[in-house]
Amino acid sequence: MSLSQTLETPSTGKYEQPTGLFINNEWVKGVDGKTFETINPTNEKPIVAVHEATEKDVDIAVSAARKAFEGEWRTLDPQSRGRCLTKLADLIEKHAKTLTAIESLDNGKALSMAAVDVNNAAGCIRYYGGWADKIEGKIIETNSDSFNWTRQEPIGVCGQIIPWNFPLLMWAWKIGPAMACGNCVVLKSAEQTPLSALYMGNLIKEAGFPPGVINIISGFGKIAGAAISAHMDVDKVAFTGSTVVGRQIMKAAAGSNLKKVTLELGGKSPNIVFNDANIDNAISWVNFGIFFNHGQCCCAGSRIYVQEGIYDKFVEKFKERAQNNVVGDPFKEDTFQGPQVSQLQFDRIMGYIDTGKKEGAKVEIGGERHGKEGYFIQPTIFSNVSEDMKIMQEEIFGPVCSIAKFKTEEDAIRVGNTSTYGLASAVHTTNLNTAIRVSNALRAGTVWVNQYNMLHHALPFGGYKESGIGRELGEAALANYSQTKTVSIRLGDALF
Ligand code: NAI
Ligand code: MG
Repeated sequence: MSLSQTLETPSTGKYEQPTGLFINNEWVKGVDGKTFETINPTNEKPIVAVHEATEKDVDIAVSAARKAFEGEWRTLDPQSRGRCLTKLADLIEKHAKTLTAIESLDNGKALSMAAVDVNNAAGCIRYYGGWADKIEGKIIETNSDSFNWTRQEPIGVCGQIIPWNFPLLMWAWKIGPAMACGNCVVLKSAEQTPLSALYMGNLIKEAGFPPGVINIISGFGKIAGAAISAHMDVDKVAFTGSTVVGRQIMKAAAGSNLKKVTLELGGKSPNIVFNDANIDNAISWVNFGIFFNHGQCCCAGSRIYVQEGIYDKFVEKFKERAQNNVVGDPFKEDTFQGPQVSQLQFDRIMGYIDTGKKEGAKVEIGGERHGKEGYFIQPTIFSNVSEDMKIMQEEIFGPVCSIAKFKTEEDAIRVGNTSTYGLASAVHTTNLNTAIRVSNALRAGTVWVNQYNMLHHALPFGGYKESGIGRELGEAALANYSQTKTVSIRLGDALF
């Protein structure tokens, strides 16, 4: 099989899609010559076959990254590292139309939403380009006999394993801080959505990154992903995906070379609406909070708690709003919700809907497949959901939410914090005191007030509790891609 193929999308026409493994700034086939197909979730048909990395290819990619790290990259002046990133951001913008179409084709997300992802990916890469020459140590006074300072040094070779829900954006969140801090990487995309990560290969080369600094491989979690997390020459692994796999990655790190681990895992985020909220605003954000990206967001506001005074009115109006979400072909201009990413995810979500019905929750709207072809699911709202129900406790990762009523602020905080997860949360109120009190009390990495899903590359993002370890984005992400070295000098002669 060749290393690229001409593909066609409804919005851009023909383009050239790389399909090889990107190692050492070259396109290569996997050692075992394996390939796998990526599926278009809109019509369930294969788009193209890409080359598959196995353990042997991971070894080759890690060696390339190690060689690059020990070579010119580590000692390159930070301005030059920053320039590679800002050039890459420019190139993402230059190729934005194609990248947007690739995301819609491979993942099924609405074209208008994919365009936002691409724009945010460019923003994130440019932001970290700006950080590259602003990573500084400290001088620390201890006593008059010594002079001490710290340096922030790169960790080394980083393995990065990303999911399929925001293929290019997760790519950018991982690559940006890793490069700013001077690491080299082997990044594995998700097997459901390998195309945008591969498209970035040629742009990486054009932006001026030396060979081996960024290596991109396609492959399966149990094979290539597992090989990265257990690799003896990978110094750090950064993962976004399911909690189950997050645990496996920590075990693999512990069982190999104790590589550093950062995890961005699932969530079951509470979205709390008080009686005094501006109800139309709240409904619009609650709707966006759960149905954006077809519910395939780690921070999805899937547990909706509404205060009793406005509960009935809220449910009626929210139903109306959600029914107006246009579900359909991601390439149509007015589409808000496309298909779920895969048959497996479709089946998992339909399984949860079934459980919700059996557990006695009330289906307010939806609850069925949408259409006959593609992995489409109707926006689904369950009411009368109690705390012990599975649909209130487990991450569904689809267009399905659970609503329950609460009485007091204390109740809202208690139920908000019942989850084993703690990724995100939101409060809707017009009372500033309520907003501050509740946001301080919620045990979650992010609290949105009178809005939802408003991520920004300058704002740290990550999980409390079982939602993860470490922070992505903002200055905080630099801490996960660098290590502190302390240098202490004795002043004058002294004997011990
Ligand atoms: P997953 O956790 O299996 O996949 C995410 C990434 O991990 C992919 O690149 C995959 O190849 C890799 N992976 C899988 N097994 C691995 C292993 N043993 N070692 C190393 N890497 C491995 O998630 P999946 O099956 O695609 O989705 C299942 C559920 O996970 C979803 O329903 C959702 O609840 C959650 N999820 C959460 C995401 C988030 O943004 N936090 C993103 C994707 C899924
Ligand atoms: Mg696909």
